[in-house]
Amino acid sequence: MKLRVAVIYGGRSGEHEVSLRSARAILDAMDPAKYEKIEYLIDREGKWSPRPILPEPGAQPEIDVAFPVLHGTFGEDGTVQGLLELAALPYVGAGVLASAVSMDKEMMKRVCKERMLPIVDYVVLSRERLDPRACAGLPFPVFVKPANLGSSVGISKARNQPELEAALALAAQYDRKIIVERGIAGRELECSVLGNEAPAASLPCEILPSREFYDYEDKYLLDRAQTQVPADLPAERTEEIRRLAVECYRAVECEGMARVDFLLEAATGRLYINEINTIPGFTSISMYPKMWEHSGLAFGELIDRLIALALDRDRKKKATRFTR
Ligand SMILES: Nc1ncnc2c1ncn2[C@@H]1O[C@H](COP(=O)(O)OP(=O)(O)O)[C@@H](O)[C@H]1O
Ligand SMILES: [Mg+2]
Repeated sequence: MKLRVAVIYGGRSGEHEVSLRSARAILDAMDPAKYEKIEYLIDREGKWSPRPILPEPGAQPEIDVAFPVLHGTFGEDGTVQGLLELAALPYVGAGVLASAVSMDKEMMKRVCKERMLPIVDYVVLSRERLDPRACAGLPFPVFVKPANLGSSVGISKARNQPELEAALALAAQYDRKIIVERGIAGRELECSVLGNEAPAASLPCEILPSREFYDYEDKYLLDRAQTQVPADLPAERTEEIRRLAVECYRAVECEGMARVDFLLEAATGRLYINEINTIPGFTSISMYPKMWEHSGLAFGELIDRLIALALDRDRKKKATRFTR
């Protein structure tokens, strides 16, 4: 019997297009001898085809396991994971809590802070109280971000007060919560993590943006940013990144997979965790699978592992009682 895998992709987020490419790469890499592939496409308006997944246990007898390949809002943030929990379907990747915490740049930092993991200084503002004086303690340049988004959308680097005010107004269009961070001049590094109770980290890679920072143009349009896998780093630094990536993953209680992104400050040599992505880009050239490939795990095997992890978690969850 083949395992019947529902790949859910597209979605309402700004990363709809990337999701189509990630899903294509995953579907192509799934061994047809092992898997029966069922596609669920969510369009930009949120309409599912051929049909939605219903939130009732047993309503989808044709699905053994779901694989959400949705980046960003309404897919990576715990919403679709909540639907799959209600439907009692096993699914690939982080659960509801880890998805939501990882999506929110403030909550993620609060959780890291509690574990004494290195994060940059930041302040939080709300759209309703958008007072730039709250940022007085942060030296310029600062990075201004909507708390819950991705793909660098709504993010600006501000070098002075007028730029800060414009950046706050822009970010406030994308979220009611805005985070302002101390800008770090240095290198950008990423690390893939895979696993449930015993997460493992890949070799890290480096992103070399072609612009002022790794913005939307650089990520998706210009095709000029360079990447290096594995990153050219001293062995101790590589180990520090891998250790912190796993610690961050554990701190947010992630399962399945995540890519943890870092900033390495040139002037001080200090390493900071920037963010954790629970459904990282998964195209054939994306960093998450690429880092695993360089660490000895091929794309197809990575898919097998992720599906096995989803089923394993589901088996363990079944031992939980929900009533007296
Ligand atoms: N504190 C910071 N210091 C320096 N660069 C930053 C900082 N925060 C973000 N950046 C730059 O902005 C990019 C996008 O920010 P990030 O927090 O990763 O948001 P997203 O979730 O949209 O990817 C990063 O890849 C990096 O180039
Ligand atoms: Mg990022």
